[in-house]
Amino acid sequence: MTNPIHADDIKGRVAVITGSGQGIGRHFAEVLAAEGAAVVIAERNAAKAEETARALRNEGARAIAVATDIAEQASVEAMRDAVLAEFGRIDILVNNAARMADLERRPFWEVPVDEFDNVLDINIGGTFRVSRAVVPGMIDQGWGRIVNLSSSTILMGHPLYLHYVASKSAIDGMTRAMARELSDTGVTVNALLPGQIVTGDGNIGQTDDAVARVRARQFVKRSGQVGDVSGLLVWLASSASDFVTGQSLVVDGGFALG
Ligand SMILES: NC(=O)c1ccc[n+]([C@@H]2O[C@H](COP(=O)([O-])OP(=O)(O)OC[C@H]3O[C@@H](n4cnc5c(N)ncnc54)[C@H](O)[C@@H]3O)[C@@H](O)[C@H]2O)c1
Repeated sequence: MTNPIHADDIKGRVAVITGSGQGIGRHFAEVLAAEGAAVVIAERNAAKAEETARALRNEGARAIAVATDIAEQASVEAMRDAVLAEFGRIDILVNNAARMADLERRPFWEVPVDEFDNVLDINIGGTFRVSRAVVPGMIDQGWGRIVNLSSSTILMGHPLYLHYVASKSAIDGMTRAMARELSDTGVTVNALLPGQIVTGDGNIGQTDDAVARVRARQFVKRSGQVGDVSGLLVWLASSASDFVTGQSLVVDGGFALG
């Protein structure tokens, strides 16, 4: 029997990964490309987007960079149109881009109101904008996969970045509502809730002490790596997960239960 996750199902699919110029998103682009998908690096940082797409093409992948700001409706629609012009369809959408690492950790009563609004606009609004732009094509073709990046931080009320927790909680709820609205269309919507994942790109906004405290609380006493999340991503992006929708899958070494 063929392993359902490597059933060549992803080969030939077209995948858009937002915020894929570094970190978890870049790794997702690499693994989907390795599975044979054409990948779109939809990233605000144009130089990182280009560099990522070039590196993937050098490995033999079909990859394009489209500088995209998910906070801007026009930019999102231009990205969608550029992908359709290049590849003709979008099968897989990974809503990965978010504002997180640059956020100063502070009590919620000290969070500037405009910063709170901006985090919600990028993280929640961006997920909405890109999904809204892409999903009609998925419905028309009768098959699609949307994977939203939430966070296990929402499960235990992680302190000192209330706007981030609020945004990732909203994405978790949106995932179930989107999945229900897409009933019987062939389009599934699921959320990944990673715990602390050390990507090597930046410091994920935490001090070394804070990283160590999270690790101590986990049942699996090591740092989470990008490869810990990408197996589920590949599965969710494939037909092997046809019967799974509206779900929140936690990948955190037991952190939120700790
Ligand atoms: N790293 C972790 O520990 C962790 C844990 C749980 C959830 N997550 C989630 O996983 C995702 C990726 O995390 P990461 O650690 O790789 O983050 P990261 O900060 O390293 O990468 C985020 C990427 O998104 C891009 N981006 C930011 N705003 C954008 C915008 N408006 N439009 C387009 N691109 C934009 C950035 O340029 C960057 O390349 C995020 O949604 C994050 O909330 C991360």
